Amino acid sequence: MNKKTIEDIDVQGKKVFVRVDFNVPLSSKDPNDDITVTDDTRIRASLPTLNYLLDHGAALILASHLGRPKSAADRQFSMAPVAKRLEELLGRPVKTVGAVVGPEVQEAASKLQPGDVLLLENTRFEPGETKNDAELSRQLADLADVYVNDAFGSAHRAHASTEGMARAVQAKGGAAVAGYLMGKEISALGRAATNPPHPYVAIMGGAKISDKIKLIDNLLQKADTILIGGGMANTFLAAKGFELGRSLVEAEAIPEARRLLETAGARLVLPVDVVVADEMSAEAEAEVRPVEDIPATKMALDIGPETVENFKTRVKGTALVVWNGPMGVFEVEQFARGTRALAEALAELAEDGTEVVIGGGDSAAAVGQAGLTERMTHVSTGGGASLEMLQGDELPGIAVLDEAG
Ligand code: 3PG
Repeated sequence: MNKKTIEDIDVQGKKVFVRVDFNVPLSSKDPNDDITVTDDTRIRASLPTLNYLLDHGAALILASHLGRPKSAADRQFSMAPVAKRLEELLGRPVKTVGAVVGPEVQEAASKLQPGDVLLLENTRFEPGETKNDAELSRQLADLADVYVNDAFGSAHRAHASTEGMARAVQAKGGAAVAGYLMGKEISALGRAATNPPHPYVAIMGGAKISDKIKLIDNLLQKADTILIGGGMANTFLAAKGFELGRSLVEAEAIPEARRLLETAGARLVLPVDVVVADEMSAEAEAEVRPVEDIPATKMALDIGPETVENFKTRVKGTALVVWNGPMGVFEVEQFARGTRALAEALAELAEDGTEVVIGGGDSAAAVGQAGLTERMTHVSTGGGASLEMLQGDELPGIAVLDEAG
């Protein structure tokens, strides 16, 4: 994926449209509350691109979706709290406008001077956004000279602001290029997906295997070893004939789990012990059990200490580790230990020279909670996008950008 970036084009005096992913968690769902941004990681991650463009004489028109509003009437999804946080982080005024396209937006965009920043309303307030509507794409493209996509988290969506408008800008002779964040994500995840260094260990977790079968199939072609934890390990253990008690097991996915186990042989490594309890609560009494001895009344909610040690041994001295999905129910303290111990081991590994890439979503949240984000080689800002990239799919928001050289 050799794409042109912001450094390949001249933006001096230009109006640059930057599609960012400011789909961030908010403090309230009530539009009458004073809503604030509760995690600004994605806003911070866009700053290198925004500052570079501003320093090089561009005027910026920024746009993002936020949540999944049904219409513009869903005011709790307004970008206003995001504009406020962005203004603080950028240290300069961020103008807002109450729409995504239309006369008010055209007027605000036409008045922009180099150094100005305008943030449009939630792109999903326009029904044409998720339909990748050609007319909406054209109207967005008309606002700017150049299109920059820095919204890696949304690159798996072929929507008007992530795909259609890039084409519309290209159609009128403008450039459509990647921002710094997009470039960083492409090199970390794209390399893992296509041309990884070895030894390469992938660690997979999360609740379900049904949404990750394609990913595991692709990893079996690229990685040397796959370590499995979290709820999805239960389905593999069940496929091997273990009794899982009341643990979450995807019965319908057992045949696929069996096939993956046969294909992988010793390359797919499962937990040898788990933390079990009667229920998924902070008050439940938890105990460690070997996987051969899970009581019929209990459920597995985390990997056990022997598994953690085993996983740590497996990743030692590797060239690349990619981790996607928590090892247990990390939202509950007593089932977070496996995930946390693994995160700490990976942070140390990264410091010893292994490239450690954390897929977005829950694993990124767990690493963030443990205060370890800065110590990893790369923590992705994309959830679904990083999964699709790791499973070898072409992402429409990236595919459409101008080729380099
Ligand atoms: C994400 O948070 O994964 C991205 O912003 C995409 O959001 P979506 O799943 O609502 O398209």
